[in-house]
Amino acid sequence: MEHRFIVVTEDESHFRDLSEALQSLGLPVWLHWNTDMLAQLVGSLGTNILFVEFAAENAQKAADLTNNLLSVFPRLWVVGFAKRADTQLIREAMRSGARDFIELQSPVEEIRQSVQGILEQSPPLPAKSTGNMVTLLGARPGVGTSLAAVNLALLLKQEYLPDEPILLLDFGYPAGDASLYLDTKVGFNLCDAVRSLRRFDHVLLSTAFSHHKSGLAILSLPHNLADLRDISPVDAMTLLSLFKSYFKVIVVDLGGFAGMDLLMYALGISDQILMVCEQTVPSVFSARQLLHNLRERGFATDRIGLVTGKYDSRIDMDPAQIALNLQMRLVENLPQRTEKMIACANIGKPLLDVAPKDPYLETLRRIAAGQCRQVGSPGPANAPPRSVFGRWLAPLLK
Ligand SMILES: Nc1ncnc2c1ncn2[C@@H]1O[C@H](COP(=O)(O)OP(=O)(O)OP(=O)(O)O)[C@@H](O)[C@H]1O
Ligand SMILES: [Mg+2]
Repeated sequence: MEHRFIVVTEDESHFRDLSEALQSLGLPVWLHWNTDMLAQLVGSLGTNILFVEFAAENAQKAADLTNNLLSVFPRLWVVGFAKRADTQLIREAMRSGARDFIELQSPVEEIRQSVQGILEQSPPLPAKSTGNMVTLLGARPGVGTSLAAVNLALLLKQEYLPDEPILLLDFGYPAGDASLYLDTKVGFNLCDAVRSLRRFDHVLLSTAFSHHKSGLAILSLPHNLADLRDISPVDAMTLLSLFKSYFKVIVVDLGGFAGMDLLMYALGISDQILMVCEQTVPSVFSARQLLHNLRERGFATDRIGLVTGKYDSRIDMDPAQIALNLQMRLVENLPQRTEKMIACANIGKPLLDVAPKDPYLETLRRIAAGQCRQVGSPGPANAPPRSVFGRWLAPLLK
């Protein structure tokens, strides 16, 4: 499992410096000082090491925080850090319970090595379930990414993991497609959630987040994308990481999202990535372009699986050819269901309500089953029996 580090500092540049050194070791999450919920966040996030900044002007505050956190989590491994440190500062940190101290002005490699050493001694993460993130990317607009994400999330919530919190992150553009497809008003958006980061907890989740009647939580981008400029990118990233502690599965519709930094981050922390591509030359062309752009930014595109959107066996260009052309792993073909999809969109009902046995859903069920295996769940809780035998036998077995 990936290591997770919590970094407590007021200074974004200090967080960045430390993150750079921690990059190859795990996922750093930034928390501010003034977080009333700090203890709760530390508990729910789970962390290998908590880094607390001990700057001269806040050394007392840092010592109190370390003390308090250690009284709640005695096995927590606290490491003090400062841009520059003197013996006095280090002594203060150690007295409050910190086990090590790092100076940010040291060479990155040196910091990395000392953290590596600390990791070898620190206790493993507390046993806790972490959420699984599955992200759907569209080769280009209109290929069917949003519908696939909506239906996958709904299947997971209604059939596979009904008792678990499931989140649909509707980052597709135009914003808010999920709320239309699910006929659910989404009032609280990503910017609101980022602004509430410091008081994020289960109460906020159940009160502020919109939920479909199945219980599926939905979070969209703001209608005015310019609002995204008002939130701190680091906070948005922290929030995405935080979701993995609160939800069992997070389905992300990245659709045609243009905010590359956040997109790259979401991809980075995703456990499964699927790209939807149609059997058309323009769609394959866009897919290749997108893969190229991601590779240019250092992303390992072999993590992305291919899903054929609106699959039709009569079309010459077959999915295996597309996969070969793009050098991707073919995961599934989502069948073309034009009339059904239009009918559903126009009445604001998901396909699962209208035609639960539709072959489109059967395909998504296989993806959902894969997600369940990843989170260690046995499988569908109340799915309709899949095989013909199953369908016949089910009433007899009741
Ligand atoms: N399997 C399918 N068969 C037929 N039509 C489909 C299928 N999937 C999606 N569509 C149709 O394609 C259009 C786009 O679907 P959707 O909104 O899911 O795609 P998208 O890739 O998210 O698009 P955008 O990038 O515009 O948000 C819709 O009109 C939808 O009804
Ligand atoms: Mg979309």
